[in-house]
Amino acid sequence: MKEKEIIIPMLEVSYSELNDRQRHLVDMAREATGRSYAPYSKFRVGAAIELDNGQIVTGSNQENAAFPSGTCAERTAAYYAHATYPDARFKTIAIAAVGTDGHEIPEPVAPCGACRQALLEYETLAHHNVEVILVGSRAIYVLPSVRSTLPLAFSEF
Ligand code: THU
Repeated sequence: MKEKEIIIPMLEVSYSELNDRQRHLVDMAREATGRSYAPYSKFRVGAAIELDNGQIVTGSNQENAAFPSGTCAERTAAYYAHATYPDARFKTIAIAAVGTDGHEIPEPVAPCGACRQALLEYETLAHHNVEVILVGSRAIYVLPSVRSTLPLAFSEF
């Protein structure tokens, strides 16, 4: 038997510690929460993806009365990005969320498992790490890759 440990590298930073590019992406993710359609959960999520062609694509969660038909912000943004710019590669994704009290959630928003798996596919396609910025009002986490958000990820590649 061998005991093993997986360590996830990440930085906890404040908004002012981000560089201009990261700050802009965080601003875009925050802005995208305003375009969320979340009449059921009232939890508004926004995502902004920077592509290597210089474009920034945003998405927000889009809910539906038939609950499972709704889509998270990250997948809205990722699928739109790849459907619109199939040759572009993802560079960075920022995610922000406004809670049911109408305020940004204090702790950095954690993407759901399905979104992590979906984003991992685009990181694999990119052949390089996709930086992940998780936004909260108390702190911001910066992770070096999607893979670091999903240890022991399923991968066919
Ligand atoms: N949601 C996201 O948009 N992203 C996540 O990673 C987690 C959850 C959405 C789905 C649903 O519309 C609402 O947040 C509450 O779960």
